[in-house]
Amino acid sequence: MIKGFSKLSQKEKIDVLLEEFKLPQSFKDTLEHHQHSELQEIYNQFSENTLSNFYMPYGVAPGFVINGKEYAIPMTIEESSVVAAASKAAKFWSNRGGFQTKVISTLKVGQLFFTTDFGYIKLLEELTDIKEHLLSSITEISHSMEQRGGGIHTMKLNQEPLVDKETYCLMVSFETVDSMGANFINSCLEKMGEALCNYLKSKGAEAEVNMAILSNYTPDCIVECTLSCAIEDLKAYSGDYTPDEFAQRFKKAVLLAQHNSSRAVTHNKGIMNGIDAVVLATGNDFRAIEAGVHAYAAQSGQYSSLTKVKLTENEFKYTLTIPLALGTVGGLTKLHPLAGLSLRLLGNPSATELMQIIAAAGMANNFSAIAALVTSGIQKGHMKMHLSNILSTFNATSEEIGMAIDHFGTHVISHSAVKSYLELLRNNE
Ligand code: MEV
Repeated sequence: MIKGFSKLSQKEKIDVLLEEFKLPQSFKDTLEHHQHSELQEIYNQFSENTLSNFYMPYGVAPGFVINGKEYAIPMTIEESSVVAAASKAAKFWSNRGGFQTKVISTLKVGQLFFTTDFGYIKLLEELTDIKEHLLSSITEISHSMEQRGGGIHTMKLNQEPLVDKETYCLMVSFETVDSMGANFINSCLEKMGEALCNYLKSKGAEAEVNMAILSNYTPDCIVECTLSCAIEDLKAYSGDYTPDEFAQRFKKAVLLAQHNSSRAVTHNKGIMNGIDAVVLATGNDFRAIEAGVHAYAAQSGQYSSLTKVKLTENEFKYTLTIPLALGTVGGLTKLHPLAGLSLRLLGNPSATELMQIIAAAGMANNFSAIAALVTSGIQKGHMKMHLSNILSTFNATSEEIGMAIDHFGTHVISHSAVKSYLELLRNNE
């Protein structure tokens, strides 16, 4: 067992791993090769026991028109086709009114779980006093947030009878303006927890805090994104179908995602392809977003699609409704050099503007995915990218790549088929 690992320098950590796990010198070389010559100290600070950096592609999907404004959206993603699909949909919709978005709500929630023998009725009777007491306990912490227009919005007391009759949850909703607000919310909650226990003890009751933490379920931090156009304008995506048939097939695909949970998960994953890529590129917390989005998708009790489609007379209307608790100040957004760059590329948006941009990216990816699924299928586009990935693992030359693309236009692509094809080419040279 390695002892005192965290105390070692970066170089020592690598050396210890090499020795302990009998790793080759190339393990060390690769790690060192991926360290940054100037900025490594900054990256090291983001996490613990950092050895090196794990690179992911940082791309851009240009041509987005959101509420009449043009954006080139930065995306950090390792899956081929995602940036291409977003760009294709962005370009298509830019001539059809673009993405129409609106922020419905911006509140985040914190939970203060506590146990007391004070009694539910008495807690309710004294709730106004308790709230005032808790608010005054955080004036120092909340002062600058309040100056920026944020702070505590509401407090609601719930009993947790399924856990035990003396346990409660104070649900506190916060406006955190342009910050994601996790630190602010958690600091407020911890301070309020102390104040709450002091209040209850001063009344002769026993009281203890169980937990004080923000909730990543954010059903009151919602953005909506809509795409609409005349059905006949869908021609560019309808493949061998008429635009009308395409619209009907699209509608059925969305209905299936609404009513079939297994399909809904994949449908929503296609939305998250776009969402996560921008969340990551802007230094936001993708785990928090993922957790909140999927909980929201299951809020009715059945996991369902985050999008809805409506076909009227001659109009196709497609809407995404999604919770996105984001920040454009604080946290990684300013510390990570590329997160800062992404925000700059987006024109240094407010958190609400970023919610709309990210919703549009998710919508673009989902639209392209469903359009492909109900026409030529997803593999056609994927396999093209897959082919180029396989070719690069065999160090194919540009001449070989050109010939392989022609050949696999009419042949099934697989790792072994590409390998055999290249062997044949190379043996015949
Ligand atoms: C793949 O990353 C995403 C899709 O599976 C989404 C979907 O099925 O809607 C293509």
